[in-house]
Amino acid sequence: MKIYKAKDYQEMSRIAANIIAAQVILKPDCVLGLATGSTPIGTYDRLTELYESKDLDFSQVKTVNLDEYKGLNHANDQSYYYFMHKNLFDRVNIKEENTNVPNGMEPDAAKECARYEELIRSLGGIDLQLLGLGHNGHIGFNEPCDIFEKETHCVDLTESTIEANKRFFACADDVPRQAYTMGIGTIMAAKKVLLVANGEAKADIVAKAFFGEITPQVPASILQLHKDAILVCDEAALSKRG
Ligand code: F6R
Repeated sequence: MKIYKAKDYQEMSRIAANIIAAQVILKPDCVLGLATGSTPIGTYDRLTELYESKDLDFSQVKTVNLDEYKGLNHANDQSYYYFMHKNLFDRVNIKEENTNVPNGMEPDAAKECARYEELIRSLGGIDLQLLGLGHNGHIGFNEPCDIFEKETHCVDLTESTIEANKRFFACADDVPRQAYTMGIGTIMAAKKVLLVANGEAKADIVAKAFFGEITPQVPASILQLHKDAILVCDEAALSKRG
């Protein structure tokens, strides 16, 4: 695992964006796996700047997002579809038909998860997967568990996740109870993975996940076994390593 230590969030975002930009420049029709959450927002801002300065062209890039809430439609400002359009897709020259987010409005979970897994396969797999890190070590919506879930699947959100997310909704009852997420196997099959983490609040989990035991109780720890994994953290997130 290659580790970059940035001095702050801005530098972390710049390094992560440069790694993604290098991928796009080397393979203009690459498949990028993308994440939502607060951490990658600066990375998306920086990618947008590179596009605006004509240093980056997204016209052939294809994307697959990690996850989506079940039951939220595209217009819902808490859907990951909405997030991706707001933070990246509507700001660069990517083609809408080349972007993919699990369809949260498909009620048949087995059907949607199989479709998504097949879609990733039909694109030839993911060239670079961007990831954030949950405080409990989750990646995508793969929560601590007794096994590493392999493929795209439907998860029941834990009470703590519902509790943590309710601030974004009018009330706790509005928080979706389920989500579709790529599995650990789907993520591990990406040719390159790039995880971003910042802030002191992530220091304990960064130390556990990347310098501790590999266990499904800390889903991100499996990335230690990936042959091309890159960790980009600010100093605060790396302050408790090892
Ligand atoms: C988002 C996702 C999540 C987040 C994680 C960290 O698509 O899959 O695993 O990456 O919850 O979120 P932030 O960046 O908000 O700390």
